[in-house]
Amino acid sequence: MTRQVIIDTDPGLDDAVAILFALSCGAFEVLGLTTVAGNIGLERTTANAGGLLAAAGRSDIPVISGAATAMLRDNIDAIVVHGDDGLRGLKLPTPLVPAKADAVEWLAETLAAAPIGSIEILALGPLTNIARLVIHHPSAAARIGGLIVMGGTIDEPGNAGPASEFNFASDPEAVATVLRADIKTTIVPLDVTRRVRADRDYVEALRKTPTGSIAADLLTAYLQDDKQSRPLHDPCVMLLALAPELFNIEFHRLTVDLAQDADAGTLRKRAAGSPVSVAMGVDVQGALALLASGFA
Ligand code: BDR
Ligand code: CA
Repeated sequence: MTRQVIIDTDPGLDDAVAILFALSCGAFEVLGLTTVAGNIGLERTTANAGGLLAAAGRSDIPVISGAATAMLRDNIDAIVVHGDDGLRGLKLPTPLVPAKADAVEWLAETLAAAPIGSIEILALGPLTNIARLVIHHPSAAARIGGLIVMGGTIDEPGNAGPASEFNFASDPEAVATVLRADIKTTIVPLDVTRRVRADRDYVEALRKTPTGSIAADLLTAYLQDDKQSRPLHDPCVMLLALAPELFNIEFHRLTVDLAQDADAGTLRKRAAGSPVSVAMGVDVQGALALLASGFA
């Protein structure tokens, strides 16, 4: 049985690999890609999502653009990692179908029309769209079957601030809103995603299949600047959805720091925090093998 999922995303090279895996592995029915500003601006993340679907021959899946700005603060970006086109110069086909507007309304309508709990959301970027859904359509948000989020860090140093991760630092108010909502949420933080890394040998071995070749091109772009290996942050969300047994999942009560400085987005363990499942460990070889096996 395939699981119905919506991917909320800011592609982004690792987002793109995660999306290709979800399209190709046979375990998911991807109902749509909702886009958000994150790694780069919304126009670009939306175009990249459509281009990726065209490259994968899946332009039947809609792209719906969402939030162009964080809830209460200026956008940050990750151009230094993903390039000013979000794909480090990798060219994807022009999207075959124009993106629709208003991800929040589309999410609300799609959730309302489906059996309660039947749709899961895989969130690969800042949580702005999901937080807006919680605020504007709480009864639709309550129908989400599960939310798996790449974001945050518990014990690892941050990649945005000293202890803050990029997606959560981009929109901490959105994280706070989502954590407070009554949604079954699992966080996949840097503590796990930094362990699951692609090196050049791994990337070249993906070229055995058509989708694997596109993933290899994306990861080759991600490995520019003579990096030995790169963390597969967003693909870990798909892997956890598919094979939770590969992960060590702990239960924590968390709050998020809403500071106006480099601590913004830092997760704090607090007795009064929201209950959330957090992936804290991973079978690295199992995760890498599962990812590689999913590209048809
Ligand atoms: C996260 O930030 C983005 O740059 C990646 O796409 C990933 O979602 C990692 O911190
Ligand atoms: Ca991302």
